[in-house]
Amino acid sequence: MGRHFALFGHPVAHSLSPRIHAAFARQAGVDMDYVAIDAPVLDSALAAFDGDGANVTLPHKARAAGLCVSLHERARRCGVANTLLRLADGWHGDNTDGLGLVRDLTERRQLDLRGRRTLLLGAGGAARGVAPGLLDAGIGELYIANRTPAHADALADALGEPGRVHVRYLEDLSSLGEFDLVVNATSAARDGTLPPLPRALVGPRTTAVDLGYGAAAIPFLAWARAAAAREALDGLGMLVEQAAESFRLWHGVRPDTGPVFADLQAQALSLVSAD
Ligand code: ATR
Repeated sequence: MGRHFALFGHPVAHSLSPRIHAAFARQAGVDMDYVAIDAPVLDSALAAFDGDGANVTLPHKARAAGLCVSLHERARRCGVANTLLRLADGWHGDNTDGLGLVRDLTERRQLDLRGRRTLLLGAGGAARGVAPGLLDAGIGELYIANRTPAHADALADALGEPGRVHVRYLEDLSSLGEFDLVVNATSAARDGTLPPLPRALVGPRTTAVDLGYGAAAIPFLAWARAAAAREALDGLGMLVEQAAESFRLWHGVRPDTGPVFADLQAQALSLVSAD
């Protein structure tokens, strides 16, 4: 009998993850199913799930970390988990978002992240998921800017690298000049808005990445292109790569993400959710 997996989030109906994992399973010859479960409350939904592994997306990544009996260092560092594996003693958590983003940038986009001066917009679950991976990949200074400064301070404290990680007010970004990498990890587009960002943050050497995809990525990518960024990327590549890392944790084999990414991109799905 096949193994059972699910994605928990709220909302989750438009997620591409079931489709991505089905494609990986076909490729690897793994007998499994993977469904999206809309869960307003994670605890009860996870307790009712008799499966082998789970992905967790917004707004539950912090709660997921809290429900695990153990966490990989990547997930523990910032207190958010997106991948759970059930063992005899309970759920074990990891976070594959950072690895996913780094793999998309370094392998698919051939970007050398080492020493790159980076601006991270946002300090919620998505930002917490990718920040450790970016630091581990060898970026240079990391500036974090967030609507609520206390959340940015908490993320910087959790990262524990005061020499490399700095916090700035969103209103005070204009003096910082051009960044090599600007990552939008805010959910502002869900409200149809974008934080006010000075164009001077991006220029001919800047890669701008929105962690969302489809409609959710449009405002930030339009801003980056208007500011003449070198390239403006959505989060579809990261989505496929983080899924591949989850798949590897569950099944012990890393799928070939190239054809799955190409298939999704070719269809240019205009979806509003991101996980
Ligand atoms: P996610 O899991 O997508 O990161 P989250 O944990 O709710 O979701 O975090 C959302 C992030 O987007 C936060 O950094 C939030 O800022 P606050 O910490 O001030 O809440 C940011 N955000 C959401 N709406 C925003 C808006 N309209 N303008 C600027 N930032 C916004």
